Amino acid sequence: MSGAPTIGGWLRAGAAALEGCSDSPGLDAQLLLAKVLGSDRAALAAHPERPVDAAAAAAFRALLDERRAGVPVAYLTGVREFWSLPLAVSRAVLVPRPETEILVEIALERVPPDAPCAVLDLGTGSGAIALAIASERPRSRITATDVSAEALAVARTNAGSLGIDRIRWRRGSWFEAVPGERFDWIVSNPPYVAAADPALLALGAEPREALTPGSSGLEAIERIVEDAPRHLRAAGGLAVEHGADQGAAVATLFAARGFADVRCVRDHAGLPRVTLGLISDIHRG
Ligand SMILES: C[S@@+](CC[C@H](N)C(=O)[O-])C[C@H]1O[C@@H](n2cnc3c(N)ncnc32)[C@H](O)[C@@H]1O
Repeated sequence: MSGAPTIGGWLRAGAAALEGCSDSPGLDAQLLLAKVLGSDRAALAAHPERPVDAAAAAAFRALLDERRAGVPVAYLTGVREFWSLPLAVSRAVLVPRPETEILVEIALERVPPDAPCAVLDLGTGSGAIALAIASERPRSRITATDVSAEALAVARTNAGSLGIDRIRWRRGSWFEAVPGERFDWIVSNPPYVAAADPALLALGAEPREALTPGSSGLEAIERIVEDAPRHLRAAGGLAVEHGADQGAAVATLFAARGFADVRCVRDHAGLPRVTLGLISDIHRG
């Protein structure tokens, strides 16, 4: 990439450098240059004629190299927007995905705004789901768990930055983090990619334990569906995100464990992404 003295020139050069290694090379270049300049995309667009000094240009080039090597933009900028909330992300957490907002929508349709409702977010990562629900349902009582202490530290930092102090953070493997407790709704975006899935190759910068639970890809969901009834209150429900090809298998797991009204919600591309169901008293255990 040849030198370019202005913001506009560097944006064009950056986008060209990322062509073929990113789905959004222009946007990535804007976010990375804004990060280097301590600015935002709007300011870059408003002043493309401004010069970029040599130190900033070198820092931009270094970020472009990392992006070309497959590092997500969010790890390079340190921030990702989810449910319109700016969340800090580090390599200890999965970068929150837009499709996970479907799980938030499902929860918000069921968690009443005017009554206390106990919600559990299993495998909270950056805290994305728990924080989004908390931001919309101030009366809810939310517990969020993760097996990773580093992830919980990121989630707690996000809660502090957003001024949300009502979430209980618990460390442990799935329901071991909340022994003997029951909830009205349990939500989770667990790891669900099969260990041999070639898709993992492109996700190498993200924590492996956030992506894959084992060889079938269903191991974490099986554990959660099996144990959830013992942690649900009467008329409580479970909603789980899964892979687009796992809808039928997950619905079968729900039905076999005694969940009723089992349904699968599709994403904007029409692919099944979240399965949910209600528990009846005889199956609560
Ligand atoms: C797919 S990521 C989802 C993160 C976040 N909820 C989101 O939607 O962006 C799965 C999360 O589950 C956590 N996890 C993996 N195994 C776990 C276990 N046995 N118990 C609890 N959490 C686990 C990972 O650390 C990771 O944060």
